[in-house]
Amino acid sequence: MTGPRELMVRGLTLEAGDVLTVELVDPAGAALPGWAPGAHVELVVGDGTVRQYSLCGEPSAPSLTVAVRHEPAGRGGSAWVHRILRPGDRIPVRGVRNHFALEDAPHVVLVAGGVGITPLLPMAEELARTGRSWRLAYVGRDARRMPFLDRVRALGPSATVHETAVSGRPPVAGLLGELTADTLVYVCGPAELIGATRTALEARGLESQLRAEYFAAPASEIAEEPGTFVVRLERSGLELVVPADRSALEVVTEAGVDVLSDCEEGICGSCETKVLAGAVDHRDHVLTATEKAENSCMMICVSRAQGPRLTLDL
Ligand code: FES
Repeated sequence: MTGPRELMVRGLTLEAGDVLTVELVDPAGAALPGWAPGAHVELVVGDGTVRQYSLCGEPSAPSLTVAVRHEPAGRGGSAWVHRILRPGDRIPVRGVRNHFALEDAPHVVLVAGGVGITPLLPMAEELARTGRSWRLAYVGRDARRMPFLDRVRALGPSATVHETAVSGRPPVAGLLGELTADTLVYVCGPAELIGATRTALEARGLESQLRAEYFAAPASEIAEEPGTFVVRLERSGLELVVPADRSALEVVTEAGVDVLSDCEEGICGSCETKVLAGAVDHRDHVLTATEKAENSCMMICVSRAQGPRLTLDL
């Protein structure tokens, strides 16, 4: 990820009842990093905390656009964006980074829940533009709370809109439609939608075809009771015990070893650390299934050891 840079808010647009798009440009007019669908940036919001948002504008545009849903029960970042941020303000931005890139596949299915449409919409637009085989199912409570409906409808019959307040919750198997062993399924939205999609794919033996991005880590997974293990820091030879109720990140940081971190929920990728030995119990939502199977790196804020010890490149 590139370091933080100050960008200026050029425009704010209310897209749906509680979703605000924020268009960011370089204050001096300098070019911004290029990006591909699925990419995100991190905004450093009012109290200095960092929030991750998918880019949802046009990749060739000279600006970066993110969509922020106001979450009254959230940690305050979205409220700051909605209530305080105004055109002309400057805000530190990190990125661009992409853990959710569109891969090659003969057919791609996109399933979006609510504001989870943000990374999937540029994907659908690229798939349509390049003449590939794809479909998008966009699920939300009702049209008034579903951002970007105009852009979705402009994609034609490959994109379908499902309002649960009108026609109930659609069965995920129906949203997925016909799948083959090489279809890729991208899902973004609440944990329940991702869990239902995973279950539907597992029932067909296609779970390795799932690519998922959470908006918040599922609490059930975070709350799982982990075991104790030893982490060896290869560069210093330090060996530290990670107790059941603490993360490797906490223990390593406490020992005076500097590791970048932000979300501490396994969703931002900042604390990615190279693994030199030991099997990882991956609990993050950053790495793909293939990357997890490679066992060469881990998010030390949430992931743990499968066995009694891990050796890290720290
Ligand atoms: S700090 Fe966010 S993934 Fe580890």
